[in-house]
Amino acid sequence: MTIAPQTADLAAIQTAVEILRKGGLVAFPTETVYGLGADASNPEAVKKIFRAKKRPADHPLIVHIGRPEQLSDWAQDIPQAARELAAKFWPGPLAMVLRKQPNVPLAVTGGQQTVALRIPDNPVALSLLNAFAGGIAAPSANLYNHVSPTLAEHVVSELGDAVDMVLDGGACSVGLESTIVDLTGTQPALLRPGHITPRQLEEVLQCPVRVPQRTTTRAPGMLEIHYAPKTKARLCAAEQLAEEIVQLQKQRKRIGILSHRFGAGAAADVFVLRLPDEADEYGHALYAALRQLDNMKLDIILIEQPPDDDNWLAVNDRLRKATAAGTLIG
Ligand code: TXA
Ligand code: MG
Repeated sequence: MTIAPQTADLAAIQTAVEILRKGGLVAFPTETVYGLGADASNPEAVKKIFRAKKRPADHPLIVHIGRPEQLSDWAQDIPQAARELAAKFWPGPLAMVLRKQPNVPLAVTGGQQTVALRIPDNPVALSLLNAFAGGIAAPSANLYNHVSPTLAEHVVSELGDAVDMVLDGGACSVGLESTIVDLTGTQPALLRPGHITPRQLEEVLQCPVRVPQRTTTRAPGMLEIHYAPKTKARLCAAEQLAEEIVQLQKQRKRIGILSHRFGAGAAADVFVLRLPDEADEYGHALYAALRQLDNMKLDIILIEQPPDDDNWLAVNDRLRKATAAGTLIG
């Protein structure tokens, strides 16, 4: 595996393009999380993504493009809503599900007749996409059901030699996966909350966006156990944290606390990691924090429950999934 330096210069981009053209895998930074990329028009290359991630083949991938004009290479019957959202939010952390063009491999779409598309807002990703000039299918560059990578080193430690090259673009600015909106139905539907909120979508579309509470939709990002650390993790209301810690200490547990308001004093076998008390900044830091705690050989991670309001929709979605297993997975 080659690891390109942080600036990802032209030579590195050229090498990455050659790898993609030959059907190899290139991990690259986006503003959300690192993606594990393959040539979206090459089904054999796309299958390597599923093998590297150990991801079931029926879980569709997002196709990344460099320019809005490429939309019609991948999607057909594109509604005006898609054009409006693209004009407002691309490049940016929004993926749109549309009807696929017949030539889009079913390996990319998990066998479905729809395709998810987005233009990422990251200079390295855009250089790569524009030099490659095609679509790059890329899920988050982590093992299936594990925490998404927000640094190049997360990709290296998790996927290692399964990837031919990692382009290092430093820390992802958003840090949570993109908002996904399905535009193939009679009403736009949110499939995954992200940095771009349903309200922002509604402002552009001038119509309501369906926001399912808990769902069994096609997006595996919405399966309950997802984005999970390996250590047992539990959400805990702020006012119950202190008591919870006392109980766990009695059982001689090694405890990690992920807090944003709660300020516990230092104690043996209690490690407190404090995140910002603002939703976007919290989201930016969350995955690296979960990985840090996950590497500490703790018995349990207690996560202080953030407020239940719209600003925290994406963060709360990921926290619910990270804690859904309750017990060890991975
Ligand atoms: O921020 C992101 O979207 C990152 C970066 C790399 O772009 N990618 C990402 O990919 O999170 P992944 O595979 O981890 O999540 C993509 C989500 C999945 O939940 C998948 O089911 C959904 O997009 N998706 C893709 N195509 C779809 C389709 N045709 N219909 C419904 N959901 C789809
Ligand atoms: Mg993912």
